Amino acid sequence: MHERGHSGRRYVVTGGASGIGRAVSEVLIRDGAYVAVADRDVDAAQQVADTLGERCLAVRLDVSSRSSWDEASRQVRDELGGVDGLVNNAGITRDRTMKRMSDDEWQQVIDVHLRGTWLGCQILADDLGASSTGSIVNISSSGRHGSYGQTNYAAAKAGIVGLTKSVALELAKHGVRCNAVAPGAVETPMLADVPETVKQGWMDATALGRLAQPEEIAEAVAFLLSPASSYVTAHVLDVNGGEMHL
Ligand SMILES: NC(=O)c1ccc[n+]([C@@H]2O[C@H](COP(=O)([O-])OP(=O)(O)OC[C@H]3O[C@@H](n4cnc5c(N)ncnc54)[C@H](O)[C@@H]3O)[C@@H](O)[C@H]2O)c1
Repeated sequence: MHERGHSGRRYVVTGGASGIGRAVSEVLIRDGAYVAVADRDVDAAQQVADTLGERCLAVRLDVSSRSSWDEASRQVRDELGGVDGLVNNAGITRDRTMKRMSDDEWQQVIDVHLRGTWLGCQILADDLGASSTGSIVNISSSGRHGSYGQTNYAAAKAGIVGLTKSVALELAKHGVRCNAVAPGAVETPMLADVPETVKQGWMDATALGRLAQPEEIAEAVAFLLSPASSYVTAHVLDVNGGEMHL
């Protein structure tokens, strides 16, 4: 397969130890890149790095913490010598209907998705600018349009869209592009607790009639990271199998 200009480029993938982030790391390594798999679960990140080989580095990172980003970014600079691309992918859910949702459930989701994405863009902006072909891909969701039991998640994922477009405007002069990928439902551990009836409803509302595999999201992310998408910025790419918003 064509390596799409990834060879030798250096990427940070947050939440890279599982699901979509793991699939993104695999695709980038396959294409010849260096990848820092940055995850709160550093043991799982190390297992991914052991599997993907010597161009893959495990990094401990809690995306919601500035000090953790400071430490992780130092490690990446020391070990990879710079950063050409960032995937803000780490995520959690704390689902509950709005009336029952606690302050903690609201705040944790906002902190990981929205603050975590903002911190990543801010802390690595200069590193990405130094490369002059830097690219950021933030992971939004089709849930940004509104999702039952997910006021916290929908607000965070919609917020990521505004953040992405603003970062694209601010960093364009440094040669850094910033886009978002908005997946539909993807078969990952994040969906483990979702009842089959709910998943069936999603599939029925999707033109392709099935859930996505993580690799199908990873290919879209890899395109937006690569120089092959050099004129694409401030864009939200839906990768949702033709989801109909009923
Ligand atoms: N699975 C889906 O259907 C779906 C759909 C749309 C969007 N998304 C988004 O895709 C992204 C990846 O989701 P996934 O389905 O692969 O989930 P996942 O649960 O398989 O993986 C999430 C990873 O993020 C890590 N993580 C969680 N909190 C973290 C933190 N504070 N700091 C660093 N790492 C942290 C976890 O340890 C885990 O490795 C998320 O942003 C999610 O909201 C998922």
